[in-house]
Amino acid sequence: MTDTWGANSGLDAYPAAVEAFDVRKTYGSGVAETVAVAGITARFEKGRFTAIVGPSGSGKTTLLHLLAGLDTPTSGRVVIDGADISTLSDDALSDLRRDRIGFIFQDFNLLPYLTAEQNIELPFTLRGRQPDRQAIRGIARELGIENRLDHKPQEMSGGQRQRVAVARALAGNPAVVFADEPTGALDVKSSRQLLAILRDMASRRGQTIVMVTHDPNAAAYADRALVVRDGLIAADIAHPVAVDVVRVLEQSAEPANAEAGAR
Ligand SMILES: Nc1ncnc2c1ncn2[C@@H]1O[C@H](COP(=O)(O)OP(=O)(O)OP(=O)(O)O)[C@@H](O)[C@H]1O
Ligand SMILES: [Mg+2]
Repeated sequence: MTDTWGANSGLDAYPAAVEAFDVRKTYGSGVAETVAVAGITARFEKGRFTAIVGPSGSGKTTLLHLLAGLDTPTSGRVVIDGADISTLSDDALSDLRRDRIGFIFQDFNLLPYLTAEQNIELPFTLRGRQPDRQAIRGIARELGIENRLDHKPQEMSGGQRQRVAVARALAGNPAVVFADEPTGALDVKSSRQLLAILRDMASRRGQTIVMVTHDPNAAAYADRALVVRDGLIAADIAHPVAVDVVRVLEQSAEPANAEAGAR
């Protein structure tokens, strides 16, 4: 048995949860055309935790939406669980998303008229299933929102809302979790707790995690960091440590952004 663990080594050693083949996404046309994703090929193995990092506007959210089947590529293919999603009917694609995928949106996407608990139970409600209340309480406790479950989103802080969105994505025990800046609104302690939960989901439960983050310390929780720049993968770092991610991000920064010291 080969002991291949590097990001690109032993190409088919681990089964893929999600694969992208030369995926492109453009908005508008002619002079107004924006290339958000410029032709990305990537393989996300089952049970691994991948961070996607890169400057603002580099195409991270667009890529995540394409990988999760929430958006359709202009060209190229996305394969989830071995199925080319462009060949699935709308119903089959929604079933796949509902049953296999958890998504944590950059803007949380909570329903304002539902309480935190009802928002978290939504994946179950939509499936016509009884929510797993014990599991939900457990996740809420781990995320420190157990005393906010009766509150509506507008009665909560940004960080609390973000944790509700996280709990909703995790409650259904999805095979693949896509997370867009899941620690963006969290303090250091809450961020660490959430990252430890995501790490654990991959390491102990074999769930596949793909997380967009701008935080090199968050990326260091992952098995692998993909650096995206101008809609392309600029680097693929196995076992990322924060300083390496910072260095690659600085190398790939545009000269116009060179005054980043002012942060
Ligand atoms: N619906 C849209 N219509 C037109 N252009 C879009 C649309 N969505 C995204 N874009 C453009 O595509 C590019 C990539 O956007 P995207 O949201 O993927 O970036 P990002 O890397 O997630 O940025 P951030 O770190 O700021 O969230 C940007 O130039 C953006 O303006
Ligand atoms: Mg984004």
